[in-house]
Amino acid sequence: MTVGNVLITEDEIQDRIRLLAAEITKDYESRDLLLVGILKGAVMLMADLARAIELPMDMDFMAVSSYGAATQTSGVVRIIKDLERDIEGRDVLIVEDIIDSGLTLNYLLKSLSMRKPASIEVCSLLVKEGLQRAAVSCKYPGFTIPPDFVVGYGLDYLGLYRNLPYITVMNEEEIAAV
Ligand code: IMP
Ligand code: MG
Repeated sequence: MTVGNVLITEDEIQDRIRLLAAEITKDYESRDLLLVGILKGAVMLMADLARAIELPMDMDFMAVSSYGAATQTSGVVRIIKDLERDIEGRDVLIVEDIIDSGLTLNYLLKSLSMRKPASIEVCSLLVKEGLQRAAVSCKYPGFTIPPDFVVGYGLDYLGLYRNLPYITVMNEEEIAAV
């Protein structure tokens, strides 16, 4: 099954993740690394990235909603599932699927910073070009992409296509047909 126009292949994703993981491994040596995956979009990246990081580390997850059923962000962020444990004094690395408007991460960074982590950084598989409404510094970006609606490798449209191992651009007809 191939959906849409493939933008980033499975091999390209996996190669990039290995490089990001090598950087993270170097940067977090002797620290208290906690990966915080943002459900559900970041599950694929979380699983592949964590396995490529060669350090002792911990994982936790949060779920937030910002989109509802639209392909445009609403700017309203709600925590649906919070972290299980306290992050005070820990080196938090937020793992996200995509930075679009930046509103979701901007909100998360503010709210998690108040819990006094030792440090907080962001790893996002994708960063959309030119659309950020909130400035978010992403220390570990995977790929910069044009401002199209993409699915695959965790990213969905109405809950579909998360399981595609590549990133693909959905065209208008395909979106309308769902
Ligand atoms: P932001 O708050 O606008 O940066 O958007 C954050 C969230 O919107 C992401 O974590 C995704 O879940 C979703 N999102 C943004 N762009 C896309 C896209 O192109 N495809 C699928 N989901 C997207
Ligand atoms: Mg998401």
